[in-house]
Amino acid sequence: MIFVIVYGTLQATFVKRKCIKCNKDMNQVGGPLEWKEEYNVNISFIDEHHQKFLNILNNLQEVVHQDNCSERISEIYFSLVHYAEHYLIREAMYFKEYPNFIHHQDAHKEFINRVTKLQRDFEAGKKEVCSEMYQYLLEWFQNHILKYDKEAVNYLKSKGLV
Ligand SMILES: [Fe+2]
Repeated sequence: MIFVIVYGTLQATFVKRKCIKCNKDMNQVGGPLEWKEEYNVNISFIDEHHQKFLNILNNLQEVVHQDNCSERISEIYFSLVHYAEHYLIREAMYFKEYPNFIHHQDAHKEFINRVTKLQRDFEAGKKEVCSEMYQYLLEWFQNHILKYDKEAVNYLKSKGLV
């Protein structure tokens, strides 16, 4: 009995770590992105939500590799809605003294519009939505979170505003 449970768990772990779509082990296709110390801006609510965003990104990567977009896209979408409602608005307000505040706020609106459009595309029957969403979120993580948000925090810190 114990053997069956252990074997079942190992098998489930193996299946979970395999890229079904490309028939490779997840380690061979990059695997999940890990949070690094250098990503921190040392403002707890920002770092906490940026890490949550990375978890969503990694979940979506798993969905793409396991080719189960239709089963899990709603879960991913609602995680992103939660991220937008509980974080993006708060972050934008936190950056209101930043000279590029309006542009930053526009970038957040564009993010929400893009994610909403991708969800609508899925509902309209478009395939490959998860792959497209993954590329967009990865770009957001690399260009907005790791660069743009960091620039804003560095500016506010340099002026003694935070
Ligand atoms: Fe931002």
